[in-house]
Amino acid sequence: GAPVRADISKLEPGQRIVVEWRGKPVWVLSRTAEMIERTEDLGGDILADPESVEPQQPDYASGPMRAIRPEIGVLVGLCTHLGCSPLFKPEPNASDVGVSNWPGGFFCPCHGSRFDLAGRVYRNVPAPINLEVPPYHFEGDSVIVIG
Ligand code: FES
Repeated sequence: GAPVRADISKLEPGQRIVVEWRGKPVWVLSRTAEMIERTEDLGGDILADPESVEPQQPDYASGPMRAIRPEIGVLVGLCTHLGCSPLFKPEPNASDVGVSNWPGGFFCPCHGSRFDLAGRVYRNVPAPINLEVPPYHFEGDSVIVIG
């Protein structure tokens, strides 16, 4: 499949856009400094693979935020359980995700899997591994090439 370009020049802080790549939804997420801080605070008591040891991202997207630029997240928007598309729940302590101290992230309505704002999976949910980070790079400041 051909690479897909996403223009992020109008992406507001804290917002997300969805682009299609190889028939899959890819989320491009603008993370504020505050969102990054609360995501980086999470660790292995909450997350199954906080260091992204499982090969779910290119090497250049290792580290806690799993991204080339921490303020821009790029994730394949398909749950690693059975492939539903999780819901964007960026606000802390959202009441409908079933955990206390929710730090913001993604909630899969099919069987309740939860992921943080870097796509890292929580412990004790059906999804076994983190969301996939597709291959991507930047073209200048405001275009992301996926694939
Ligand atoms: Fe997401 Fe099952 S498909 S929890």
